[in-house]
Amino acid sequence: MSELIDIPAAGAETRPDAPLLRVNGLKTQFAIREGTVRAVDGVELTIRPGETLCIVGESGCGKSITGRSIMQLVDEPGRITDGEIWFRARSGLRLGPAPGSGIRRAWRRDTDRDSLGPAPDPAAAGSTEGMVDLAPLPTGGPAMRAIRGKEISMIFQEPMASLSPVHTIGRQLTEMIMLHDRLSAAEAKERAIEALRRVGLPSPEKRFDSYSFELSGGMRQRAMIAMAIACDPQLLIADEPTTALDVTTQRQILDLLRRMQDELGMAMIFITHDLGVVAEIADRVAVMYLGMVVEECDVYQLFTSPRHPYTRALLASIPDLEAAGGQRLSTIRGTVPHPLNRPDGCPFVTRCDHAVDACSGQLPEMITGAAGDRPRGVRCVHYPDPAAVDDGIGRDLDPIPHAEVTR
Ligand SMILES: Nc1ncnc2c1ncn2[C@@H]1O[C@H](COP(=O)(O)OP(=O)(O)O)[C@@H](O)[C@H]1O
Ligand code: SF4
Ligand SMILES: [Mg+2]
Repeated sequence: MSELIDIPAAGAETRPDAPLLRVNGLKTQFAIREGTVRAVDGVELTIRPGETLCIVGESGCGKSITGRSIMQLVDEPGRITDGEIWFRARSGLRLGPAPGSGIRRAWRRDTDRDSLGPAPDPAAAGSTEGMVDLAPLPTGGPAMRAIRGKEISMIFQEPMASLSPVHTIGRQLTEMIMLHDRLSAAEAKERAIEALRRVGLPSPEKRFDSYSFELSGGMRQRAMIAMAIACDPQLLIADEPTTALDVTTQRQILDLLRRMQDELGMAMIFITHDLGVVAEIADRVAVMYLGMVVEECDVYQLFTSPRHPYTRALLASIPDLEAAGGQRLSTIRGTVPHPLNRPDGCPFVTRCDHAVDACSGQLPEMITGAAGDRPRGVRCVHYPDPAAVDDGIGRDLDPIPHAEVTR
């Protein structure tokens, strides 16, 4: 690689609440012998600096592949086939070959619009000024290597999948730090030990020389978080980071993530199937079903006035701690369709108690409410326009149980 381009400064006019990440129409597919698995099938997401967006949904609905797509970490034969992943990288990040190459198309300044193709429809996509589209960037190319770990980090449910068993925690941390920042080995070691201290690992100097198999599950997850935050990323994607842990450790890790987020001012995409965790940690929530976001709203709206029948069914199926034995109130009828056997029209039609004829024809559009400062979107025929989304015209759907929102 001969030349590099620098990301332009975001500019004084960039509003502090301008999105950090804007995902438009993202599709990720696996071409397998039996057919094409549409794992992510037109996902739309927006996340602002410092915000926590929870992605919630049953197993297999495309949460992890959405996170991995943003990181360009989808395993073969998976491939991003459509859509855009606009990210506001920090000014000064060096991002790849000089203008004229393929990567040139991936970043946008309004002044460059002619050379970059038509501007996106501002109503549909919002401004992408000063943002980089990660979707076309090669997985192993210099741009994604510069972004992964430094701008966006990801932690996984199973830390053993991302911590090497044959290198010490300290070596992995210092290598990652030195990949991104020009530091001497001694300075990188100092930064690594500081990261281990920050995440609450006792005796961080000793832990620096430990191997991952020498640590307990909770300690390993802390080491993973140390790796993820060591270079002060703007966005952390946490994929079910507490699912494999016991309840006490789960709580400690959630508290730690929240504290790290406050201290570092990072935004977080927190992937979970646990609505209890959502209530504790989310600012906004995207509910996914069969590779699509079917409802997006803030956490208060999710628990007090859910709109989409799938969201309502998920809420009705959380254990009620007040009820004897914490029993499930109900389960969602049927099972998630096989990804190779998706229904036409609304993806939820085979399980929905509120389905009408119109649901089987066309895929319902995502309709975004217009009122107030808490925008919300719903993809269901019962909410045909922004007024219906805002006012809950489908509110005669079954009542739902109440849950407590702690954040
Ligand atoms: N390597 C793969 N090959 C084929 N299909 C896959 C592969 N990885 C994931 N999928 C499919 O993609 C869909 C979404 O998976 P995933 O994002 O892991 O779901 P979630 O994280 O919501 O449980 C699932 O239907 C899954 O079977
Ligand atoms: S569009 Fe129809 S099937 Fe889909 S969630 Fe709404 S009512 Fe149910
Ligand atoms: Mg997953």
